[in-house]
Amino acid sequence: MSGESPLNPEHHRHTDPLPGSDLRRRPARRAHRRRRLIVAGVVAGVLVVGAGAGSAVALSTGLIGGGTEAAPDPTPTPSDPAPGPTPTPTPTPTPTPTPTPEPTEEPTPDVEIDAPDSITVVVNKQRPLAPVDWAPEDLVMPEGIPNTNGQPLRAEAAAALQEMYAGASAAGLPFTITSAYRPYDMQVGLFDDYAARDGVEAAETYSARPGHSEHQTGLAADLDDGGGCAFMSCFGETPTGQWLRDHAHEYGFILRYHDGEEPIVGYIYEPWHFRYVGAEVAQGMHDAGELNLETYLGLDPAPGY
Ligand code: DAL
Ligand code: ZN
Repeated sequence: MSGESPLNPEHHRHTDPLPGSDLRRRPARRAHRRRRLIVAGVVAGVLVVGAGAGSAVALSTGLIGGGTEAAPDPTPTPSDPAPGPTPTPTPTPTPTPTPTPEPTEEPTPDVEIDAPDSITVVVNKQRPLAPVDWAPEDLVMPEGIPNTNGQPLRAEAAAALQEMYAGASAAGLPFTITSAYRPYDMQVGLFDDYAARDGVEAAETYSARPGHSEHQTGLAADLDDGGGCAFMSCFGETPTGQWLRDHAHEYGFILRYHDGEEPIVGYIYEPWHFRYVGAEVAQGMHDAGELNLETYLGLDPAPGY
């Protein structure tokens, strides 16, 4: 049977930091700037308090006044009022505080997310394909890549996967395709099998209902390195899994279900499931440090149906 069988205790033990979490740069930069402002304020305060304390110490030890006797108060000599008009005091200009520019939010990218044949269609537990049994018309077999179940992809995704395979192979990390396009009917059988085996609730954490699977778009591929971690979280720790996660965006792919993102994407960590979204969105997500299509596109989280 083709498909995903990720029920593995490691899913629940995986405690690595979020892949790519170091890319959450905007909030980190903001916090850093705030810290710098606080430090500057504290230093200025210390200088003022220090100066005051220094004067107090000097007075109590008689260092000010030139001797041991208390110096007489310098009584000010009243001066005659100056003749002529009283000069108008020049108003002290109030310094205009330099506003700290707040970083502006990135605008939501304008991409087609509803049409089932869009490269950027968003399919999740809240967003079924419409029609629910939609099938692509431009399926081709990716060339030159071992393909366990002989499943095709849409032409553009297949070409991009071939490029990614060339890149991975050049790095000494070739991969195999363990699942790619799955028609509606195949997902019916797959989901029913998982539900019968593990119960519906458990099955829904790792398998999509028919009409809700990215595999039905012809734009998703499950990848493996043949090292015994197929459909398991440990694939994310293999050199191939890490290379794919780090380089997928260069080929228009994203790792779709990151560790710890179940409340947004609706599925447990699937380090093997790569989704073709095109170069613009993949690179944009990478540059913005966004892990999820939903977050990047300003869509609601999809934790359940
Ligand atoms: N394993 C993913 C969520 C699917 O069934 O499409
Ligand atoms: Zn998958």
